[in-house]
Amino acid sequence: MTTVDPVAMRRAMGRFATGVAVITALDAEGTPHGMTLNSLTSVSLDPPLLLVCFNHGARTATAVADTGRFAVSVLAARQEPIARRFAARGDDHFAGLPLSYGRHRVPVVPDALAHLECTVDRTVTAGDHVVVFGLVEHTCERDGQPLAFLSGRFGDYTDRGHDPVPWSF
Ligand SMILES: Cc1cc2nc3c(=O)[nH]c(=O)nc-3n(C[C@H](O)[C@H](O)[C@H](O)COP(=O)(O)O)c2cc1C
Repeated sequence: MTTVDPVAMRRAMGRFATGVAVITALDAEGTPHGMTLNSLTSVSLDPPLLLVCFNHGARTATAVADTGRFAVSVLAARQEPIARRFAARGDDHFAGLPLSYGRHRVPVVPDALAHLECTVDRTVTAGDHVVVFGLVEHTCERDGQPLAFLSGRFGDYTDRGHDPVPWSF
């Protein structure tokens, strides 16, 4: 059994800078749910798969399990208030927000840098989280400054002005 405590684990992984996304889904009654999330990873291009990790008990995770569909909205830097709103436990995250829908009738965050609409491919329970693999059915994206997250704080990304990395998959 590992002796690494949760705080040490969180602090070390917190040094891994990420972007920030909001995952959205409708529950079985058609009520929209959404939560802020940074455990978003691209998994495969063929087929197009991504994964997200949900804490057990997250209401959005229940809605995703109910309907088998979800959307990812990648947040822009100026959407920090949206990130905070969708991370507040227990609130109605959509209260007072105009709803915008993707192609597959799942709500999305308007003006995000990217939307990826998914169906659930498979689900794996891993410790205190559930990992959901999404088969991506539709994407759209646009230019803009992303919202970054590092060591528990939101921040900005700095483009160092170098040539693009010639990374072939
Ligand atoms: C930057 C950031 C990243 C987060 N990433 C995750 C994550 O990857 N998985 C998760 O379960 N919760 C994550 N959370 C916490 C959820 O946003 C929070 O628990 C939310 O209230 C859950 O909402 P729900 O229960 O209404 O679905 C994150 C919060 C913040 C601020």
